[in-house]
Parts: sequence; C-alpha cells; structure tokens
Amino acid sequence: MSHNKLSRRELIAGTGAAAIGAALAQLGGGIISKVEAKVETNKWPWPYEKLSPEKTAELAYNEWYRIFCGGAVISSIFGQLREKIGEPYKSFPIDAFIFLEGGIGGWGTICGSNAGANIVTNLIIGPRTSGSEDGALMGSEILQWYSEASMPVYLPKNPRITSELPKTTSNSPLCHVSVGKWMQAANKPLGSPERKDRCARVTASVAYHVAELLNDWKDGKYKTKGPKPAGMYNIQTQNNCTDCHGANVPMPPK
Ligand code: HEC
Repeated sequence: MSHNKLSRRELIAGTGAAAIGAALAQLGGGIISKVEAKVETNKWPWPYEKLSPEKTAELAYNEWYRIFCGGAVISSIFGQLREKIGEPYKSFPIDAFIFLEGGIGGWGTICGSNAGANIVTNLIIGPRTSGSEDGALMGSEILQWYSEASMPVYLPKNPRITSELPKTTSNSPLCHVSVGKWMQAANKPLGSPERKDRCARVTASVAYHVAELLNDWKDGKYKTKGPKPAGMYNIQTQNNCTDCHGANVPMPPK
C-alpha cells in the first residue's frame, strides 16, 4: 500500500487544513483578526484600568441622550475600557441595555443607572468570594448611596439645561420613587427637557461614583459598605419600609 494513499477521513481533514492554509495565506490579517475576535465573554471577572471619574460622568451624561440611564452608565465605563483594554469589552453589546430605561421598559422598578452600575461592578469584580472582592456588594453599596444622595449630584460641564434644577433624595433605588419625588419638587412633567436633563445628570452622578469605587478597588483601598437588606430584614427589600407600608410595617415570618 502506497504511503501517500489517504483514507477518506484523512483526505477530508487534509483538504480542510489545506483550504484553511490557503485562505490564511490569501487573506492574512483578515483571518487573524477574526480569530482574535473570538473571545470568551463567558469568563469573568474582566480586567479593569483606572478611569477619570469626571470623564466617565461626562460620557454618561451625553450617552443618556442616546441610550438612557442604564445603557449610558455601562457605555461610559465599558466604552473607555474598549479603548484601553479591548476584549472582552469590544464584544459586549452595550446598546442592548437601552431596555433599562424607565426602571426597565417603563415599569419604574430599579433606576437604570443603578442596574447599569451593578452590571459593571459585577463583571469587573466578579463572583461572590469574600468581603470586598464581591461585585454584588459594591453594587449594593451603590444602591444605598443613590438612595441617600441629594440628586443630581453631578453638574455637567456644558449642561443642556442652564436653569438650576432642584435636588431631591429618593430614599429608594427605584426609578418610580426617584423620578416621582423629583417631578413633584420641580413641578415638571415626565416629557419636559428639565426632567430628561435631571435623569441624565443622575446617570452621570452614578457613573462618577462607580469609577471612584472601582479606582479605589484597583488600588487595593476599597472596603465595601455594601449592605444586604435581605440579611437585615429577612426579606428582599428596600430600607424605606414606611414609604409603602405606612406605620404598620409587616414582619416576615422567620
Ligand atoms: C416600594 C414599596 C415597598 C417597600 C419599600 C417595602 N415594601 Fe413590603 N411590601 C410592599 C407591597 C406592595 C407588598 C405586598 C402588598 C401587601 O401585602 O402590603 C409588600 C409585602 C411585604 C410583606 C409580606 C406580608 C404582607 O403584609 O404582605 C412583608 C413582610 C413586607 N412587605 C415587609 C417589608 C419590610 C420589613 C420593609 C422594609 C425593610 C418593606 N416591606 C419595604 C411594598 C413595599
């Protein structure tokens, strides 16, 4: 039997290899960059490099007018990391998170900027391990901070609305409560340019704070203040019980 007689399987394999080789030779760089683009986005945490909180806030402010609160927070951070690091950020579909607008599809649940912040901290810090190495705890800390902050905290360099906007404290991470309290204080409807700019500034405020926390974490200085309300109240919850329940806050069975 001749040593150059190949089985059908070897023939197919050989032809395949030859074809790939020829294609590589022909297309060179094109094929190689396609190979590089095949990254494993399912592996986390993802690498981080320190970002300017101010630049991040400005990006978030402007991105709000394109993809709203949640998408804008993600874009302000992952957009910069696409430039500084590349993959897996380049493969992450930032614009898909436009759905976080209005507390997810207009349902007024979690403020999208908080949801976006949690996506960012969890992808960068990673799964639950211990203490400060937990993206969910940093995310929880951001919800607490948001609830207590006099919003909007951040004033953009060139705000689209030049009149002074009132500040309100939501006492809650929810879109409905946060936007509602502000609209009441400002006496402005949902569709007003002022309400829109207020939400863009809230988004910028959150992005700024996320960058600050991540920078501290990168420097090894971060100690989480993240509370887990479920651990304190024996029910998944927000802390402002009386806002919804009035004076008679029910206690969950233990
Ligand atoms: C955003 C509004 C909101 C907040 C804030 C909130 N709750 Fe509730 N909670 C509800 C609603 C609505 C229900 C379901 C309707 C109901 O039964 O009152 C509920 C149900 C419950 C139940 C189930 C028993 C029951 O009476 O329905 C418990 C227990 C409870 N809440 C405890 C708490 C505690 C404790 C806090 C604060 C740590 C809290 N809630 C904060 C809105 C809220």
